[in-house]
Order: sequence, then C-alpha cells, then structure tokens
Amino acid sequence: KQVKVFVTRRIPPEGQKLLSQVDFCSVEQWDSDEPIPRNELHKGVAGAHGILCLLSDKIDQELLDTAGPDLKVVSTMSVGFDHLSLDELKKRGIRVGYTPDVLTDATAELTVALLLSTCRRLPEAVEEVKNGGWTTWSPMWMCGLGLYNSTVGVIGLGRIGLAVARRLMPFGVKKFLYTGRQPRPENADDLHAEYVSCEKLAEDSDFVIVTCSLTPETQELCNKDFFQKMKKTSVFINTSRGSVVNQEDLYHALTSGQIAAAGLDVTTPEPLPTNHPLLSLKNCVVLPHIGSATYDTRNAMAVLAVNNLLKGLVGEPMPSELKL
Ligand code: GLV
Ligand code: GLV
Repeated sequence: KQVKVFVTRRIPPEGQKLLSQVDFCSVEQWDSDEPIPRNELHKGVAGAHGILCLLSDKIDQELLDTAGPDLKVVSTMSVGFDHLSLDELKKRGIRVGYTPDVLTDATAELTVALLLSTCRRLPEAVEEVKNGGWTTWSPMWMCGLGLYNSTVGVIGLGRIGLAVARRLMPFGVKKFLYTGRQPRPENADDLHAEYVSCEKLAEDSDFVIVTCSLTPETQELCNKDFFQKMKKTSVFINTSRGSVVNQEDLYHALTSGQIAAAGLDVTTPEPLPTNHPLLSLKNCVVLPHIGSATYDTRNAMAVLAVNNLLKGLVGEPMPSELKL
C-alpha cells in the first residue's frame, strides 16, 4: 500500500525542497499560505500515515479518528504542542515530532526585543514622532523602566527562558528569580537564579517573563491574583502561549494601575481581533506571534519537521521526538 503523508500548509523553502525529494511516499499538501479549513483538513488526513502540521492545526480525537489506523506519526513545525491531544496520540501509539532547540535563539532575541520595546515604550514613541507629539525635548516625557539593577522573574526556565536570561545578564540585571514545576539547577546555576513560588516571583520581580509551555498546570496561571501581587511599576512579558494568561485580568491590571505595562507575542485568540480592548492601550505592546520568525530559524524548523516526519514513517529515531 502506498504510504501517504499530508502537509497542512506550504512550508518554508528549505522544507519544501526536502519534501520534493521524498520518493518513498506520496506527499499531499494544502498548497497555500492560508490556514487549511477544518473540513479540508479532515479530507486531507484521511488514510494518511504521516501528518506534518503547524501550531494552528488542532490535532484532536476527532481528527485522529478521521485519519484512521494507518497514522504513525504527527510532526509539528513548532516547539509548542498544546494543539496536539497528547493522550489520544499516546493511546494510539502515534509518534510525535516537534522543533525545539532550532528556535531557541530567535525566540529569545524576540523576547528581549519585546521586553525592551515595552519597558522603553518604543511603539508609543515612534507613534509620537509620526503624529506630531514630539514638540520639544522634555525631562520626563516618554520615560520608561530600565533593566539595570532590576529583578527579572522567569516563569519556565527551560531552553528559551534560559536563553532569554543569558541575554539579559549584560544589561546589569541584579537578580534572577524563576518558577516552574521543579528547580532546574542545571539552567539556574550560571545565572545564580533563585527558585521561588509563583506568588513570590510576582511580588519581587520588576520584569516577569513567561516562557513556559502551556499545560493544564500553566493554563491561566497569570490571573487576577497573580497581577494583584505584581509591583505597580512592573512589566509583564509573554512569548509562550496566550492561554497562560487570563486576558481580562491582564486588561484590568493594565487599566487599573496594578502593573505598568505588558508585551505579548501570543494572545487568545490568534489573530487578536483589531477591535480588541488590549489594542487600545498605550501600555500594551502586542506582536503577531513572531517569536521564531527569522528566515534561518523558520527554514530550520521546516527541515527538522520534515526529517522528524520521514524518520517516524520508517520507524527510526527522530531528530526531535516528543516523549509521550
Ligand atoms: C511557536 O510558538 C512554536 O511553538 O514553535
Ligand atoms: C520550551 O519549549 C523551551 O524550550 O523553553
């Protein structure tokens, strides 16, 4: 029987090149830069042995039922895997590939860029130049918050969290705090980072940076209670997943002065509607989920996703397999 794989979107050129060289299976693809409609996704995966998907494709029980018993591997071109029903995949013995490591540096860079843009109010300042708000040099105009001598709290000191913290060290950060499921001495030691409770991290940090993965434990971890504990002068940055945050609570925190500002690369939903209340706030910088968006990184993610898929299909070790 012919081996069939289904690819849910056009992927970056290096990945497309690899796909075009595959000869032991038939590759079907949603050949578009637009997300595949759900009904087309169901049609596409029916009878497939492998699926290469993106973080915008929900791979749930229903879809796995449609795919059927031949499905051996799901390879996602993302480090996040909250769009995959891992229990269902495990139950069916389907192997899962994902793309850690190759996007760590790009995502850490973007996180630092978002932090600096938010605490030094860059989007607002650029807007002032354009709209005539820049009338003179003024002592207190456009002041923001600096990193020097600050305390930075990282929620989820994994690969990306660590890469962010390392990049912040040269700015003269005084202290790093972190929280997560368990202490990570192998990551924390060279930062002299202190493992603390989520509450303590909220209370003591000048900058809170969320880089954890979205799981049932981290779902809306940053809620009313959390923002109430944060300093009034603190800044909140999220480059993980929107659902780690209760967005209404964040909106309230930003408008009631509980915190100073927020920078978000991820939201609920995505894309965020242009009339969303958060977008009307000067102290909230929202980016369209571009953490890993450098040319090299997106190509590397695509190549890794294709290689995970191909290895999974022939039953060999994948370069990056998610342990289920
Ligand atoms: C991006 O958010 C990813 O999970 O790769
Ligand atoms: C998350 O997946 C990380 O690499 O920190």
